[in-house]
Amino acid sequence: MDQNREKWGSKIGFVLAAAGSAIGLGNIWKFPYIAGENGGASFVLVYLICIAIIGLPVLIAEILIGRTTQRNPVGAFYKLSNSKIWAGVGGLGVVAGFMILSFYAIIAGWSLGYIIEAIVGNFYIWPEPAAAADHFQQLVSNPTWIIGYFLLFMILTVAIVFAGVQKGIERASKIMMPILVILLIVLMIRGLTLPGAEKGLNFLWNPEWDKISTGTILLALGHAFFTLSLGMGAMLTYGSYMSEDDNVPRSALQIVTLDTVIALVAGMAIFTAVFAVGLDPAAGPGLIFHTLPGVFAKMPGGYIFSIIFFILLSIAALTSSISLLEVVVSYFVDEKKWKRHNAAIVLGIVTAIIGLPSVLAFNILSDFKIFGLNFFDLVDFIASNILLPLGGLMISIFVAWIWGFDRVLPKLKLGAEKLFNDYPWVISVWKIFLKYLAPVLIFLVFLQSIGVLEKIVSIFLD
Ligand code: PFF
Repeated sequence: MDQNREKWGSKIGFVLAAAGSAIGLGNIWKFPYIAGENGGASFVLVYLICIAIIGLPVLIAEILIGRTTQRNPVGAFYKLSNSKIWAGVGGLGVVAGFMILSFYAIIAGWSLGYIIEAIVGNFYIWPEPAAAADHFQQLVSNPTWIIGYFLLFMILTVAIVFAGVQKGIERASKIMMPILVILLIVLMIRGLTLPGAEKGLNFLWNPEWDKISTGTILLALGHAFFTLSLGMGAMLTYGSYMSEDDNVPRSALQIVTLDTVIALVAGMAIFTAVFAVGLDPAAGPGLIFHTLPGVFAKMPGGYIFSIIFFILLSIAALTSSISLLEVVVSYFVDEKKWKRHNAAIVLGIVTAIIGLPSVLAFNILSDFKIFGLNFFDLVDFIASNILLPLGGLMISIFVAWIWGFDRVLPKLKLGAEKLFNDYPWVISVWKIFLKYLAPVLIFLVFLQSIGVLEKIVSIFLD
């Protein structure tokens, strides 16, 4: 084992960093709006099932690969399989890391910019959703605004990764995660105490079953991957800084619980407020940047809560973006023997360059389309809808079928002896889910993502 490789300073440090990776724009920006568009509570229920039966088992598998090999995704797969093809699966993760970070940092940049919008009181000037949407459009069409905040966010990400696993990522997570939780609780209490809040709660907790279709189920499963940072080696990389006496299943359960609770609380905070001021819950991706400003402008104390909200969103994004950059950095540090400091800076610059066409998709390059998608949507689609499910599929197949449970279980048992002794059935369930259920369901998501599933279904129905 490499004695010089960095490690987490504490067990809680790992859990907070990994929960920080999981909790991000996916929870606070994406989850509320896709739940809003897909029938509220019924979607939430499907999502919870996906998290429990696929997300958690794959998360355990991914962390375990990292902890066992103490390597970046490429080195980890190679070490366990001796095969360049499997190392290529890790390589896809590194590529996905670059790609996701390049568009993630753009939305995160908007969030930083909106802290200033909130502070200068701009939400009061454009309180109606249509006007707020126009204002948003104006901001993102301004290359200086969008590039400026994108770069600022990248600099923050690089600075943390530059400082190292313990002194950067772990320390930042230990400071930012508690702040995030406190800010979110403040917002939730504000939402719950608004007159009319119960309509928002009803929306989130009352299922509309007719809105559930196979498409919804696959959407929920796809989102489960994104929100848990699964399928591209981020959790693998964080797992590689763990010690052998850490309990992998328990940590994974803690991460999943935190991620899910935060998504639900964010949903409650947002929908109680949206319904209280009578706006549209199904506003789509614009929910946060078009609808919420108006919500803040109309609610008591909205000025201060709007600032809190965008600080919260930026913190959540930052604790996720550092895990994306860390995947890439760990590869160059382990495999190419780069120094961490150089890797963080150089790879940060490379990501910023890769991100430029996506940034410009909102202004100068808005008419430039490939397969009908602008550059931003294209990168998002390839990374989130293709590379993540593909990675998740490969991870479950690899652990269950290639690495094999005979070799896997003794590794999983390290640090989790009590679980193995007291609840052996939990392990049996994990094996079955990982071996059969996860690959089949993820494969379906994958077909759906690339638009093949509908075609196959319609052939059978015709
Ligand atoms: N889990 C993050 C979110 O929900 O916003 C997004 C993400 C981070 C995906 C890191 C993948 C990843 F490797």
